[in-house]
Amino acid sequence: MKALILAGGSGTRLRPITHARAKQLLPVANKPVLFYGLESIRDAGVTDVGVVVGDTADEIRAAVGDGSRFGLSVTYLRQERPLGLAHAVSVARNYLGDDDFVMYLGDNFLLGGITGLVDRFRAERPAAQIMLAKVPEPTKFGVAETDASGRVVGLEEKPREPRGDLALVGVYLFTPRVHEAIASLSPSGRGELEITDALQRLIDAGLPVSSALVEGYWKDTGEVEDMLEANRLVLEGVSACNEGTVDAESDLVGRVVVGEGARIVRSRVVGPTVIGPGAVVSDSCVGPFSSIAGGCVITRSEIERSIVLADASITGVSCIEESLIGCAVQIIALAQSVSRAHRFVLADHSRIQVSS
Ligand code: G1P
Repeated sequence: MKALILAGGSGTRLRPITHARAKQLLPVANKPVLFYGLESIRDAGVTDVGVVVGDTADEIRAAVGDGSRFGLSVTYLRQERPLGLAHAVSVARNYLGDDDFVMYLGDNFLLGGITGLVDRFRAERPAAQIMLAKVPEPTKFGVAETDASGRVVGLEEKPREPRGDLALVGVYLFTPRVHEAIASLSPSGRGELEITDALQRLIDAGLPVSSALVEGYWKDTGEVEDMLEANRLVLEGVSACNEGTVDAESDLVGRVVVGEGARIVRSRVVGPTVIGPGAVVSDSCVGPFSSIAGGCVITRSEIERSIVLADASITGVSCIEESLIGCAVQIIALAQSVSRAHRFVLADHSRIQVSS
């Protein structure tokens, strides 16, 4: 079995941060979302991974390399234009050969992995197996209708009037039968070759398409709120660990990870929170539920429930909450103003000044 991980796509709903960065590389608890997917694939016993890349190919390659540090063998497959998930599979047609494969959307975040799902597919080997989750807004997803045994009877991509609340999760398992189905597709209303339509073709041909309900936590990390929620969930599971230095005037409360070479000076850090390697937190209050990446400098500031990317610096700003702050962003407070909560979504290298 092979894996296909889709890491193209422009992440428009995460702008401006995705102007500068591939959405799949945005960090959750200081680790790119994509890496969680790669690790789940490896843990399920699949080592040959095709990574479908688009405009952000160079950045994805630089981050993932040949895959060896994940215990994977990675091959990059270029999708010249984002013409749909089924189109991405057709780009990978030669790479996949006649193997079964698991397709994993690189911006999907699944706590609990895919091992059970892959094992079940290997044992039962239906033409395809999909994963479903109950969602409050099914119109934003592919929606499946199932019979009592979990067999899928119908599928529709982003339906205006959904028949049920079971969304397609971005992890699919296929036998090579799917290639014939894809070859017969034409573009949907939004101009894409939809994997949902390919699955419907398999069903229409009388082939078995089975489903499994997500048992753990799943999120399509398409929007800032989704990133922050995934971050909270992952941080819930961290254990305290200090590889940096914490001075006598500082206080670490609960489960705090202090990365190698990081320094906490006259500050309070409330867990669960991770402070990346080499970061410096002084005269500040950080956390709970915050991920501060390596090289950040937080001075005389308060930040909670936020994600801060590498090398950002924040000085004199109180009450930052639920924010996603890009690489090397600088936020500097001006003196003599009233303290208020701030919410930021800033692109890499943005520079702003706020009143403190
Ligand atoms: C894609 C699929 C959709 C699925 C979703 C899961 O949508 O087309 O069927 O429910 O991923 O994340 P997209 O996020 O590309 O709009």
